[in-house]
Amino acid sequence: SQDQYILAIETSCDETAVAIVKNERELVTNVVASQIESHKRFGGVVPEIASRHHIEQITITLEEALKEADLTIDDMDAITVTEGPGLVGALLVGVNAAKSIAFAKQKPLVGVHHIAGHIYANRLEKEFEFPLLSLVVSGGHTELILMREHGSYEIIGETRDDAAGEAYDKVARTLKLPYPGGPEIDRLASEGEESIDFPRAWLEQGSYDFSFSGLKSAVINRLHNADQKGETLRPEDVASSFQGSVVDVLSTKAYRAAEEYGVKQLIVAGGVAANKGLRKALVDKFEKSETELLIPPMHLCTDNAAMIAAAGAVAYNQGHRSGWDLNANPGLDL
Ligand code: KG4
Ligand code: ZN
Repeated sequence: SQDQYILAIETSCDETAVAIVKNERELVTNVVASQIESHKRFGGVVPEIASRHHIEQITITLEEALKEADLTIDDMDAITVTEGPGLVGALLVGVNAAKSIAFAKQKPLVGVHHIAGHIYANRLEKEFEFPLLSLVVSGGHTELILMREHGSYEIIGETRDDAAGEAYDKVARTLKLPYPGGPEIDRLASEGEESIDFPRAWLEQGSYDFSFSGLKSAVINRLHNADQKGETLRPEDVASSFQGSVVDVLSTKAYRAAEEYGVKQLIVAGGVAANKGLRKALVDKFEKSETELLIPPMHLCTDNAAMIAAAGAVAYNQGHRSGWDLNANPGLDL
């Protein structure tokens, strides 16, 4: 048939995921086996445990995805996989699975950058219009990325210390909330008030860079001081005030950059794109703007393979191919 099917595997962190996308933009199946429960009691992702779970889950997840789609590997036009960045042992499981399948069935193999995937998750919902700006906010990344065409990424701002998701997870740990902390703080914040004055790191005039470590320390110090004075702070208010600071900086810088570069679309990507406060602030800011705001549905915000298939399909159609020497690259550049 004329239809093109792309299979994708994603194992960069704590989700074993397999997806199939048809004709670049149509999601056929998206299976995600989450390991969150196994890592919870350690308060974060334990790399060794993640690798073992990926090994246990990869074949099952792959079979489930193909069964759900009622397709076989023979129907696939290419096998795509996250090659980095991420945990090396976790990435290796996906890369080796993809290489094995591609080699056995003599299918083209395409390595994909995890962040390109987060960005392209949006294209499963809406066609891209260039130039566009992407606000990437995940556990490992906080970046403003300008795209003038498919597959081209210009970083115009990035975090100088912690990623936004990392700040959420660290503050959550201080509040003794379970891992992953982002969704927990998000939920608490909706029940609290922005009554505590936390700093906002705007950095130099005109800078699109971010910094969250000062905010994180301010929250930890404030909680510590309250503890010593026997004063009680409502966790809801701490969460709400912290989130207020993060969301203010992220949405303001994204809006300014969108105006300055005159982009057609502002795309939000990564796990923190699931944040209700951020979604609302962006909707409010871009309401009267010429720039169209794209925020992926919840299931496409956190790690999945559909996003890798979406980015991989474009890379494949642009002629990108990986060799049999494709390797996991934990520090891969976009
Ligand atoms: O993209 P992702 O699933 O994995 C990485 O590539 O890092 O992002 C995970 C991050 C975690 O730090 C998690 O706490 C955060 O996204 N996160 C959230 C929310 N949901 C997930 N942060 C704030 N609010 C949320 N609702
Ligand atoms: Zn991610």
